[in-house]
Amino acid sequence: MSQGRELNKAELLAVLDWYRAAGVDLAVGEDPVDRFAQPAPTPSPAQALRQAAAAPAQPPPPATAAITGDPSEARKLAASAGTLDELQKILEVYDGCSLKFRATQLVFADGNPEAKIMLIGEAPGAEEDRQGKPFVGRSGQLLDRMLGAIGLDRTKVFIVNTVPWRPPGNRTPTPEEMELCLPFLNRQVELVAPKLVLTLGGPAMQTVFKTSAGIIKMRGRWQDVAIGNHQVDALPTLHPAYLLRNPAAKQQAWADLLSLKMKMDSLGLS
Ligand code: URA
Repeated sequence: MSQGRELNKAELLAVLDWYRAAGVDLAVGEDPVDRFAQPAPTPSPAQALRQAAAAPAQPPPPATAAITGDPSEARKLAASAGTLDELQKILEVYDGCSLKFRATQLVFADGNPEAKIMLIGEAPGAEEDRQGKPFVGRSGQLLDRMLGAIGLDRTKVFIVNTVPWRPPGNRTPTPEEMELCLPFLNRQVELVAPKLVLTLGGPAMQTVFKTSAGIIKMRGRWQDVAIGNHQVDALPTLHPAYLLRNPAAKQQAWADLLSLKMKMDSLGLS
């Protein structure tokens, strides 16, 4: 420290030399900062974990949700929504599905609410839970490429899931969880009123087509189906996460996408 005296050129060069030798390569401010006089910093994730470990243990919520909601209450609530915004607000305060309490946030939907094509996936994963949007993780990136291959993107589709909260550890939602959330999914479909629906993966297909049949048998076959009170042509296809694990199945998914494209062309939706 200069102790009030101006440093001469040789001394300044010596200080710079010393900084360089110590690995200093960036000036962060003109004035010195007394870090001891500042408020305590936010703990790092590792410090937070150590502090949490030292705190009295709280029992974690069960990983398999105990369903507290009543499907008939869910139906009434969903039916009371006149717009997607209202439905989202209802879901934001709805406490009937215990998936909500292990999730970071609601993952309501993404895309264009006026789209003629609606995609229904299974459930949000870790990245979707962080960002609050469906299909934004690795399988979402593949989904975007699949859509792009037939001239679609998120401005031309509306994307939802069978349940709008991430199941712990990315497990498949239970039939009870899906049943409880079904009125909200149905209402999303009624409010968007798409001309075509693409379901992604087994659980979404089973929920929409009310079947216990497997996706491998059902994929690629169009069916006229009622989703809530909206009658629509729907096509089950493979889930992008399955395609990431089984690249050879992309051939079948591609056939399904071409089928969707042909249907779009025939309805003038391209
Ligand atoms: N898988 C899904 O089914 N939905 C998502 O939103 C993300 C991954």
